[in-house]
Amino acid sequence: MNRKYRKTVIAGNWKMNKTPSETKEFMTQLKSIMPKGRWCDVALCVPAVCIPAAVRAMRETRVGIGAENCNANASGAYTGEIATNMLVDAGCKYVIIGHSERRAMGETDADVNAKVLAALEAGLTPIMCCGESLEQRESGITEEWIAMQIKLGLAGVSEEKIRKVIIAYEPIWAIGTGRTATPEQAEEVCEGIRAVVRKLYSSKNARAISILYGGSMNEKNAYELLAQPDIDGGLIGGASLVPEKFVQIIEAANQPTV
Ligand code: 13P
Repeated sequence: MNRKYRKTVIAGNWKMNKTPSETKEFMTQLKSIMPKGRWCDVALCVPAVCIPAAVRAMRETRVGIGAENCNANASGAYTGEIATNMLVDAGCKYVIIGHSERRAMGETDADVNAKVLAALEAGLTPIMCCGESLEQRESGITEEWIAMQIKLGLAGVSEEKIRKVIIAYEPIWAIGTGRTATPEQAEEVCEGIRAVVRKLYSSKNARAISILYGGSMNEKNAYELLAQPDIDGGLIGGASLVPEKFVQIIEAANQPTV
């Protein structure tokens, strides 16, 4: 983290978990144990049907609600899809884009790019995900792969808008496996992502953008991961489903920084 130049962000990704009723229950519990200080931005990205309950429950708090996906088109014949302006109207502030689980369902870099542009246009903060498979890591192409995902995902994003984008580095082999990247491995890639942003934009923008780590991040390993200079927060799956664990990760973001 480096709070002097950029925001620290702790974001939950519930994936396909919890009903609207369970959402209400979770939010009530979270509110009762939420740390009081304003240490970092906190986001919870929830299933679409849970958004109204989450927004209602967290209205007077500093927790921003987000979606887990969006469609890049403004409206039309896209059965089952949700447009960015609908998310804004429902009270969302964030949207996760290009999660590896969605890429595995066929989402391409071009789709990710179109969604990032649409989200920015609507005034949402996109949390754009990237990450390599175990096979890619073992064959030594992590750096190039991630650089390519970042370049393609950010194509056409202007100098003015780049600071609104949050990038999440999530090595696929670390997601839901309990096998977290070491702080050094995660830092190396996050530092590389910042270097790509520096090349595409400027040092100032690269310094200002928040880069999160995701992949089996929990209340035990968060402190060490967040101590890395280029890791500005976390995108948390499993541990964001339990209020106590999520709060402990938020607390880990309240550590001294450079
Ligand atoms: P886990 O924290 O459950 O590994 O999930 C990470 C993730 O995919 C967040 O988007």
